[in-house]
Amino acid sequence: MQKNLAAITLPVPVPPEHRLPAWQVFRLMRRNIIATWPRAAYEDMVVRRRLFGTDTLIINEPALVRHILTGNAANYERPLTIRRPLRPALRNGLVLSDGADWRRQRRMLAPLFTPQHIGRLLPHFAEAGAGLLARVTDGRVNLADLLQGAAVDAVCRALFSVPAESAGAAGLPGLVREFLDGVARVTIWDILARSEADFAWFVRDRVEFAARWTAGIGAVIAARDALQPGTAQRDVMQLLRDARDPEGGGALSEDEIREQVATLLAAGFETTARAMFWTVYLLSFDPAAQAEIRAELAAFAPGQARTLADLTRWPALRRAFLEALRLYPTVPFISRVARGPDRLGDITIDRGTLVLACPWIIHRHRQFWEAPDCFLPSRWVGREEQTGPQHYLPFGAGPRICLGAAFAQTEAMVLLATLLARFEIVLDDDRPVLPQVVLTTVPTVEPWFRLRRWAGMPSDAGAGAGFA
Ligand code: HEM
Repeated sequence: MQKNLAAITLPVPVPPEHRLPAWQVFRLMRRNIIATWPRAAYEDMVVRRRLFGTDTLIINEPALVRHILTGNAANYERPLTIRRPLRPALRNGLVLSDGADWRRQRRMLAPLFTPQHIGRLLPHFAEAGAGLLARVTDGRVNLADLLQGAAVDAVCRALFSVPAESAGAAGLPGLVREFLDGVARVTIWDILARSEADFAWFVRDRVEFAARWTAGIGAVIAARDALQPGTAQRDVMQLLRDARDPEGGGALSEDEIREQVATLLAAGFETTARAMFWTVYLLSFDPAAQAEIRAELAAFAPGQARTLADLTRWPALRRAFLEALRLYPTVPFISRVARGPDRLGDITIDRGTLVLACPWIIHRHRQFWEAPDCFLPSRWVGREEQTGPQHYLPFGAGPRICLGAAFAQTEAMVLLATLLARFEIVLDDDRPVLPQVVLTTVPTVEPWFRLRRWAGMPSDAGAGAGFA
């Protein structure tokens, strides 16, 4: 790393020096869970405490993380405090299913999300890129908002072959926002509950939301099915309808497909939108990195890209994205509850122990990274196409690793390339932008940026519209 290491370090919530009382943890959990993680978590390999009557561990040691997420993954499940709030949107799709049901879903869906299949979705991402450019103007813009619009458009097109502003899809972005900003927040009832059915009366907003979400998904599928025959051959909906279980050959029912697309939409839109936001936010502090990216885009423009392999021609862009996901992993914590007793090295785990492997903490851990809080895309030189070190896990690890990792990275590369090929991005806002986590890592304020049209791009650069 050749740069001044102190160069770009942006503010984050100051970790408490000592463990906070439980009432304060609960209060902060609903506003910004990062602010509850103590300084020791960034220095030690394991931090343990009893919280809300539950033995709770934050683990950083890669061997222990591997044990929980891979080696003995079968002994661990997602906690009730995650399953209850997510159920209204994620239903019984891949994220919230378990056991034999999950295994069947995963083996049917995994082949659809390989790079080969994601390559077929490139035209959808390119069209979303063109839509983004059409909405961007010179001058002051809210890029967080624009990138969210582009991400939901990309997902709607890839899943259903329809743009986000089409009649069928129009309600979906609002519903996803409503879900993340309200319904999906952990309540006291989630902490007190012993099953998903407990205290149903107190969370009626979730039941009501689930009905509207189901109707919204039904409307977008109807809009997609009303397209001219042949128009929607290369979308995820079609892939799901064509999917067959490698063990037994069965197909997914229409109800199961609805549950999966509901899951993919809810899991895939905000995570990717925010990852793109953090990338441009960080790049706005680093004109040199932007210049490097633009040089690559001038040499090989978005409009020239035809295949996934073509995206490897923008390594500087990829480095910025990897580094943004390190500093601001949009899924900042992965939580599991022990189904039965276990041992983690010399630590005894009882049934019911809550274990957290937090990309946020691990990615800023003092023992794993040089200059952990600095934005240094150059640390990824030569490693752009690798999976990264074991202490880099923005997409999780093990059998439940993110299904949409290739989808998200491809979408982000196309949309960011499209934007950066046209514009120089300058932050035009003095307000501090802090990361805030309820479920995903979002900015406390959506800052204003100034976009300067970049004259250096060849006029036939296209908006990614050249994808075959
Ligand atoms: C930058 C964007 C994204 C990030 C950072 C991200 C991160 C993650 C992480 C960390 C997990 C594992 C959670 C755990 O083990 O508890 C996960 C799971 C999952 N993600 Fe993503 N994700 C992203 C985008 C997407 C997209 C675009 C889709 C779909 C189109 C998607 C679909 C899923 C699904 C279905 C699972 C559950 C897999 C299973 O349990 O078998 N994600 N994601």
